[in-house]
Amino acid sequence: MLSESIIFCIQCLFTISQAAPIPYPGFFEQKNLLPPLLRDPLASLVGETCYVSLVEDFNITDTACLKYAFSKALGFGIVFGSAVIKVPQMVTIISKRSAKGLSLASYYLETYAYLIILAYNLRQHNPFSTYGEVVFIASQNVLITLMIFWYARPVADFSMVVKSLLGNLMAFVGVFCILLVPTWIPLWLLSSLYAVTIPMTLASKLPQIHANYINQSTGQLSVFAVLNYFAGTTARVFTTMTELDDSLMLAGNVLASLLNGVLVMQVYLYWGKSMDPATISSTSNPEAKAD
Ligand SMILES: *[C@@H]1O[C@H](CO)[C@@H](O)[C@H](O)[C@H]1NC(C)=O
Ligand SMILES: *[C@@H]1O[C@H](CO)[C@@H](O)[C@H](O)[C@H]1NC(C)=O
Repeated sequence: MLSESIIFCIQCLFTISQAAPIPYPGFFEQKNLLPPLLRDPLASLVGETCYVSLVEDFNITDTACLKYAFSKALGFGIVFGSAVIKVPQMVTIISKRSAKGLSLASYYLETYAYLIILAYNLRQHNPFSTYGEVVFIASQNVLITLMIFWYARPVADFSMVVKSLLGNLMAFVGVFCILLVPTWIPLWLLSSLYAVTIPMTLASKLPQIHANYINQSTGQLSVFAVLNYFAGTTARVFTTMTELDDSLMLAGNVLASLLNGVLVMQVYLYWGKSMDPATISSTSNPEAKAD
């Protein structure tokens, strides 16, 4: 009875092991299998070739793919980091119910510059990870511009403020749409406009660098913001070099990174020379530019 049972069991196990299907040919050759839910987004992010090389073959000597994957991760880090970059500014405006002290002109300049940069990237079909923060910063700027109008409204003239809000919104959207139409704005013109935005964004740094130099102090400048902008623009130099072949964008990012680097150096050199060291780390500079 017992021996029959044992024989039956062995036979049983043997049949099961024989019948157990090998999932599909090559199953055991593939090393790192991920479920499709994870695999597909990863593969579309770094490309099929790099996905197979890095994840399935785990080839960590494939430096080209490693560099590319790192660039992608860095790019999305910048994009998501920028998603809330202007929220503190908006919270300040809303809580004070006032946008006093904000320069409308500089918001206009910055927002239109970002719209040009965005249109340029869209028309060049660049990957989202290489410029995505522009979408977030531009839309937050549009909101802040509308807030400036809203909180500056004359009392009791409601139709006026609605008109100026709609007018501003239509101007932003209209300009953006025009920039996207190749027959109206040929690519060479858009590239020229892009080139013009480079000195515009750089010019905003120079007065700060000059003031720091004259004072031999970085005063109210937020160390966190300065380091943040330096890290962001330097990372953009890397992602632009790795993923794009665009000397215009590269030049803009290199120059922005250099000027932010000068600010970082000034923070280091003038460290402790501020009149009130407490203000260095505790005050942020919400008006500082994102690049
Ligand atoms: C890993 O990648 C490198 C660079 O692409 C390649 O030369 C090498 O043959 C790959 N090794 C394996 C085991 O696939
Ligand atoms: C730094 O210089 C600027 C302009 O030169 C001046 O307005 C500002 O008050 C100075 N700040 C400090 C902390 O000395």
